[in-house]
Amino acid sequence: MAENTDSRNVLVIHGPNLNMLGTREPDIYGHQTLEEINAALKGHAERLGLHIETFQSNHEGDIVDKIQQAHDSFHGIIINPAAYTHTSIAIRDAISLLNIPVVEVHLSNIYKRESFRRTSMISAVATAHVSGFGSHGYLMALEGLARAL
Ligand code: DQA
Repeated sequence: MAENTDSRNVLVIHGPNLNMLGTREPDIYGHQTLEEINAALKGHAERLGLHIETFQSNHEGDIVDKIQQAHDSFHGIIINPAAYTHTSIAIRDAISLLNIPVVEVHLSNIYKRESFRRTSMISAVATAHVSGFGSHGYLMALEGLARAL
């Protein structure tokens, strides 16, 4: 059960290298920085009556810790696990132990790229998956959660 029962709390987790958005392969990931994406998310969350917290880490264990802690204080999660999408059974297992909706987001369409990106460890344990809409995908995920919560 969440601590703050007045608001619907959503945790947004950004995985490795997403702190470099804006300068990182802009032809694939766009020109927006992570700060700009987070600001857009906060504005949209307010309009939808949601409260959000954002978190970015380049470290798998830190992401696992954050997901475990979400158990007590959040009603939903949006996660772009970035490269860990394709490798991390630890992040998958952490998501599995939660009983709140989790939306997996990717800026790029991971099924249209290199073959190693076409496998997601996360999709089978996520509630929903948004891939290929650039940063707008995060806002779509938020709208989906607003309906679900
Ligand atoms: C990504 C896709 C991943 O394959 C990649 O490793 C990323 C970003 C995306 O948002 O498109 O870092 O998750």
